[in-house]
Amino acid sequence: MFRTTMASSLSFNAGGLPVLPLPGSYGPPLLGPLKDRLDYFWFQGSETFFRQRAATYKSTVFRTNMPPTFPFLTKKIDPRVIAVVDCAAFPALFDLSLVEKRDVLIGDFMPSTDFTGGMRVMVYMDPSEQKHNAGKAFCLDLLKRRARIWVSEFLLSTDVMLTTIEKELSGSDTRCAGLLVPLQKCIFSFLCKSLAGADPATCPEIADCGFAMLDKWLSLQILPTTSIGVLQPLEEIFLHSFAYPFALVKGNYQKLYDFLEKEGGEVIGMATSEYSLTKEGAIHNLLFILGFNAFGGFSVFLPTLITTLGRDTTGLQGRLRAEVRRVLARGRQLGFDTVKEMELVQSTVHEVLRMNPPVFLQYGRARKDFLLSSHEASFQVRTGELLCGYQKLAMRDPKVFDDPETFNPDRYMGEKGRRLLDYLYWSNGPQTATPSTANKQCAAKDYVVFTACLLVAEIVRRYDDFRCDGSSLSVTKLEKAAASAVPGPS
Ligand code: HEM
Repeated sequence: MFRTTMASSLSFNAGGLPVLPLPGSYGPPLLGPLKDRLDYFWFQGSETFFRQRAATYKSTVFRTNMPPTFPFLTKKIDPRVIAVVDCAAFPALFDLSLVEKRDVLIGDFMPSTDFTGGMRVMVYMDPSEQKHNAGKAFCLDLLKRRARIWVSEFLLSTDVMLTTIEKELSGSDTRCAGLLVPLQKCIFSFLCKSLAGADPATCPEIADCGFAMLDKWLSLQILPTTSIGVLQPLEEIFLHSFAYPFALVKGNYQKLYDFLEKEGGEVIGMATSEYSLTKEGAIHNLLFILGFNAFGGFSVFLPTLITTLGRDTTGLQGRLRAEVRRVLARGRQLGFDTVKEMELVQSTVHEVLRMNPPVFLQYGRARKDFLLSSHEASFQVRTGELLCGYQKLAMRDPKVFDDPETFNPDRYMGEKGRRLLDYLYWSNGPQTATPSTANKQCAAKDYVVFTACLLVAEIVRRYDDFRCDGSSLSVTKLEKAAASAVPGPS
C-alpha cells in the first residue's frame, strides 16, 4: 500500500503523500476526556474546539475526544475519535468500503431504542444490513411518489406561516413574537401531509402541539451531545452527564404514533405491502424520518436561511427578486421545475448550506486498516477506530473554496461554480452524488435544496423588502399591481 524511501524512514502513499503518525492526543484517562468535553461545550464551543486543535497539530486530521463522556445511565461511551476537518479526507466518511455506519448517527453514543418503539430504525443501520435497504428504498420511493403534493403542501403551509407573521406585524411593532414557532408549525404540517398523507387538522391536539411534541422527543435524544446555551456549569451537570429516559415523552410519542397509524394508512400500506416492513416498523421508521431527519433538519436549516436573507445589505434580495420574477413571468407557477431555472436562488441556498451545514458532524467506524489522506499527508487508521467529520471547517477548506469565510451567494454560479458542488457535503455526500440503498446519503438531498429554493422564491416574490434578524422582523408587501402580475402559490 505504501513505500518507504531508502534515504529516510519516511513512507509515502500511492499518491506520493508522506505517511505520518496521526497527531493529537486523548490525554490521561478520565482527565483527557473531561477536559475535551468542557472545552467543547463550555470554554471553546465546537468551532474553536476543532480550529484550535487543527492549528496546534498543524493538521486537518488529528486525534481528540468528543463528548458525551460520562452518561451514567447508558452503556460506556468511548469518546476517542479521529477528527477530519478538510475536503480531502472527508469523503472517507462516505466510502462504505472503508467505514461502517452502524449505530454511529450521532457518534459512539446512541439514544435508547425506547425512543423508537424498542427497535433500531433504518437511519441507524449500515447498508450491509438487509433492513436498511428496504427502509431506504421505501423512503426514496415515498419522496418520488409524493413530489407534487410536497410542493403544493409546502407552498400552502408557507402561505399560512407568512400570513400569520404579517398579522402579527400589522401594527407598528416590528418585533415578532418569534419566527421559530410559526415556522415549526409550518414545517410540521407540511411534512405530515406530504410525507405521511396525514392532516394534523383532523386532530386538534396534534394540530396545536404536534410540532412541540416532536421537538421534545427529538431534543431528549440528542441532549447529551448538544450545546443549548444554558448557564454553565448547570448545563454540564444536568444536561450532559446522563441520558434522559424515554418515559418523559412516552405519552406524546404514543399520540404521534396513533395519529400516523390512524391518518397515514395509505403510506403505511405501501411500506408493508411493497417493502415488507411490519406495520409497527413502518410507523416507527416513518415517525423517525419525519421527526428526526426531516423536521429536525428543516428546523435548523430554514431559520438560518431566512435570517441570512433577512440580514442581507448587499442588494442580494433585489437580484433574487429580479431572477424569480423573470422565471415566473407569463403566469408560470412556482414549483420544482421553475426553481431549477433560478440559478442565483439555488447558488444562494447552496452557499447557506456550505457556511452553516445543519448537521455538522458525521461519523463512521473503520471497517479495516486504511490510509486516510488530507491535502498534505496520509495517516494510518486502524480497524474499529471512529472517524468524526466536522463539516463547519471542512466546508471552509481554503484549498477548495476561495475566500472561504465569506458568504458569497454567487459562488456556485456558472460552469466553474457548479464544479464546486462536488465539495458540498451537507447531505453526507457530495451534492453531485445520488442517494441510494447502497449509501448513507440523505434520501431527500434534492428535495431539501429545492424546498429551500421555494421558500426564498416565495419570500422575494411576496415582499418588496424583507428584514429579519431573528428577533425582529419587518416586511414591505409587494405593490398590488406588481403582485397581481405574479402567480400565487396555489
Ligand atoms: C434540512 C433538512 C435535512 C438535513 C440537513 C438532512 C441531513 C441529513 C444527513 C446529514 C444525513 C446523514 C446522517 C448520517 O448517517 O451521518 C441524513 C440522512 C437521512 N435523511 Fe436527511 N436531512 C434533511 C431532510 C430530510 C428529509 C426531508 C428526509 C425525508 C423525507 C430525510 C431523510 C433522510 C434519511 C432517510 C436518511 C438516512 C439515509 C440512510 O440511512 O441511508 N432527510 N440527512
